[in-house]
Amino acid sequence: MAKKRILFVCLGNICRSPLAEGLFVEAVATQGLHARYEADSAGTNRYHTGELPDPRTRQNAESHGLALTHRARTFGRADFDRFNLIVCMDQQNVQNVLALARNADDEAKVHLMRHYDPEPGDGQVPDPYFGGADGFEQVYQILQRATLGLLSRLESDPSLKN
Ligand code: 4NP
Repeated sequence: MAKKRILFVCLGNICRSPLAEGLFVEAVATQGLHARYEADSAGTNRYHTGELPDPRTRQNAESHGLALTHRARTFGRADFDRFNLIVCMDQQNVQNVLALARNADDEAKVHLMRHYDPEPGDGQVPDPYFGGADGFEQVYQILQRATLGLLSRLESDPSLKN
């Protein structure tokens, strides 16, 4: 069976989405599911293209034993062809991605990350970029829950459409 390909999307691709990618890959490895999933991340703006994740994101992830090596890249229309599921951190990311959708099939691939969080709060992963260290830890806790929630949804419903 072809691998299911998941793309995590935020604004800069240096804080939230590379951490979501790292946590999802970690959960896939822990559960022995490498053969079934691939993950990547992208941002809807190009300000940080080529950069490693923000030092605060990397430090927080490393404090939880997770090393992040993703290099930021910009979301593009071709990503609709490469990925089965496009999981966005907030509504602005959803709007930016949907603006590039070509048809209803593209649109149906776009989801909000906190849809998979058992504690969904306001439905969005807050942008920690302009805040303090506690914001990065809050994002880590949200994304740890939501990535596990997403993986268990995918495992129980491989045709996941929402
Ligand atoms: P991210 O955070 O979308 O979680 O990667 C941000 C990073 C950079 C900027 C905004 C958000 N920025 O405006 O440069």
